[in-house]
Amino acid sequence: HGKKLWGGRFSGATDPLMEKFNESIHFDRRMYKADIRGSQAYVQALCKKDIVTAAEASTLHQGLDQVLAEWEANTFAIKAGDEDIHTANERRLGELVGSVAGKLHTGRSRNDQVATDMRLWLREAATELVTILRDLIQVTVARAEQEVDVLLPGYTHLQRAQPIRWSHFLLSYAWSWQQDTQRLEQLIDRFNVLPLGAGALAGNPFQVDREFLARELGFRGVIENSLLAVSDRDFVSEFLFWASLTANHISRFAEDLIIYSSSEFGYVSLADAYSTGSSLMPQKKNPDSLELLRGKAGRVFGQMAGFLMVTKGLPSTYNKDLQEDKEPMFDAFDTMHGSLLITTRVIATLTINATRMQSALSPDMLATDLAEYLVRKGVPFRETHHISGAAVRMAEDRGVSMAQLSVADLQTLHPAFSNDVTKVWDYERSIDHRASIGGTSKPTVLKQVASLKQWLS
Ligand code: ARG
Repeated sequence: HGKKLWGGRFSGATDPLMEKFNESIHFDRRMYKADIRGSQAYVQALCKKDIVTAAEASTLHQGLDQVLAEWEANTFAIKAGDEDIHTANERRLGELVGSVAGKLHTGRSRNDQVATDMRLWLREAATELVTILRDLIQVTVARAEQEVDVLLPGYTHLQRAQPIRWSHFLLSYAWSWQQDTQRLEQLIDRFNVLPLGAGALAGNPFQVDREFLARELGFRGVIENSLLAVSDRDFVSEFLFWASLTANHISRFAEDLIIYSSSEFGYVSLADAYSTGSSLMPQKKNPDSLELLRGKAGRVFGQMAGFLMVTKGLPSTYNKDLQEDKEPMFDAFDTMHGSLLITTRVIATLTINATRMQSALSPDMLATDLAEYLVRKGVPFRETHHISGAAVRMAEDRGVSMAQLSVADLQTLHPAFSNDVTKVWDYERSIDHRASIGGTSKPTVLKQVASLKQWLS
């Protein structure tokens, strides 16, 4: 086993089981690049304070480049005693450039270092998620524009409610994803502040220029309290909440499609590429992609709840409990990365059955329109609601559809009914009446398409 970074005051050896329990290299190695970039900036800051000479700074910088190249080429050899990514990179740097490597960590702690690495890593990862989300929205909006003439039943309580446009349904999710995108961008901006230069907890004794470090590393500012800088993991919690909420939207969308793809509904059919069969029942085509999207949401919520639990009782500044921050962050990222890509592809390849959707509409879904017909004749809505309800019951009693009630039948319920009432039994007309901003009429759906396209561009 190599010499430990912190070994000076120890005479006894670490239990090998404890070594294994303590190490984080098998997951925090993912931050190798952030760790090296942070160190390279720190070398410059040390040089500005004459802690290292210009020649030493250049040796360290080049050595770090070489360590980075090894990671990128997948040739970096992790050795026993490489407790975490910070330890491993510094150990390797020493092997490459010799004892000058020992100057790199001057005034720095793994506490401000790891907090910096994580923010750098998450900034890049979350920015990638923004791109993928925008793609998802783009695909959804394009589909909504193309299929704007397709009608289907709208549901509340999963009971037939009123006819709507299929595109209106799709866009309702596109809008949620737009908010998810904005939320993610806002949280990236919020956490894009620098912990480096906070030391272990009390601050940096060599007056390193933290604002210089922030600029070098692309942060918009520095964290102004060193105690907070080393312990603040709100950005991880916020990211996990963001992931939970976004996964929630995806999960609900998946649930809708699972229902719509059942034989009983038959509104949509999932592409073979995102379905699987049964090992026993030859006829089965199961929506596994959608079920996984729904299931993954539970996993992400668990990461959020678990991590909040880790932090709730921590005393001030750094405690090793915080090493438990990385796996939930990585796992939530990986899960959301996969979920967003799969959702995009599922939408892009979905087949819809417009005829099935259309034929699932029934005249009782226009009962509200019948009431509104009377409203337009001056009858107060409360009365018309009741009258239309009586018409529903009359049709039910006779075992006919509402559209089959004659004008004479309707007139027994209210004298304001006249021949033009037959116009009510038109789904398209009902839909296009709903033309206030946000409604399901064709112009207002196309307006949503335009707004989202504008936002995307
Ligand atoms: N691997 C550690 C972590 O992830 C790095 C920080 C260690 N700091 C310490 N004081 N032991 O949290």
